[in-house]
Amino acid sequence: MKNLIFSNNDKMPVLGLGTWKSKPGEVFDAILEAIKVGYRHIDCAHIYGNESEIGEALSLAFSSGIVDRKDLWITSKLWCNAHKKEAVIPALNKTLSNLKLDYLDLYLIHWPVAFSPDIYPTQAEEYISLDDIPLSETWEGMGEAQNQQLCRHIGVSNFSVLKLKNLISESSIKPEVNQIELHPYLQQNKMLDYCKKQNIFLTAYSPLGSSDAAKMLSKSNNPTLLEHPDIMTIANENNCSPAQVLIKWAIERGTSVIPKSVNPDRIKQNFDAAKVALSTENMDLINRLDLNFRFVDGTFWVMKGAPYTLENLWNE
Ligand code: A2P
Repeated sequence: MKNLIFSNNDKMPVLGLGTWKSKPGEVFDAILEAIKVGYRHIDCAHIYGNESEIGEALSLAFSSGIVDRKDLWITSKLWCNAHKKEAVIPALNKTLSNLKLDYLDLYLIHWPVAFSPDIYPTQAEEYISLDDIPLSETWEGMGEAQNQQLCRHIGVSNFSVLKLKNLISESSIKPEVNQIELHPYLQQNKMLDYCKKQNIFLTAYSPLGSSDAAKMLSKSNNPTLLEHPDIMTIANENNCSPAQVLIKWAIERGTSVIPKSVNPDRIKQNFDAAKVALSTENMDLINRLDLNFRFVDGTFWVMKGAPYTLENLWNE
């Protein structure tokens, strides 16, 4: 498997298993299956509510000798209720204890949004503006966690180019990764160019269009990426599945990619996408499908009287 290589020579496998929406009761088997078929990169987050079960699966994988800790890349993310500098390390320690690990490979600020309740705010007053807890303050906490070797690398998620620029200008430590929604309907080419120039790696979430998120995010009539006629034609031509086309397209663009599955056949199928060979014509055709369409559009952070709007979230 190809890797993205960090400046200290650490290697992040380009293809990882996503675990957002993987339910407790399903994720244990999914993790073990993924490790058995060869995945060496697992993407987690505190808010997914499944880190304890992932920890059980990782412990079993280590104790039964299927894989060594040092050969796995594990990412997790700081939730929005722990943005105060002094809250970062306790939140990371909770994730480490759930995952039964003593360090993460990568820890990300999950959203550029802050609030007080544990899960989601139900009232505008529970939000905290970025003037009150600036992202640079949260970032200092992340740097401290890295200094204490609780995580080897630190980065962000759902950050716009403007937020990356601001963070870089305000801090001596540069984020090494931005994990964002990326797929043919949301290609984010300006972000791709900026991050390439800045040596920031991008990880693509919702690469298959997250059809299992629509209900959770109360969205209907989403365009279905896996059934786009051009994606299906390219899949037929290459004797592979539409999902494999989408995954290989992400890898070819130089990003890492974290398709989620809890189904053993699809876990294996997605891993095998790395072997698909897309032609320049295939890539060109997919590059023309951009709609600037977000499946995860951030409307869940917008509430009357609260400080977050879609404009100040995405800076578009
Ligand atoms: P399942 O977990 O049952 O396999 P994303 O990674 O964009 O969030 O998409 C995840 C959704 O895509 C889930 O509903 C997942 O279902 C489904 N999925 C994962 N792999 C494939 C595949 N190879 N073909 C079709 N659907 C897939």
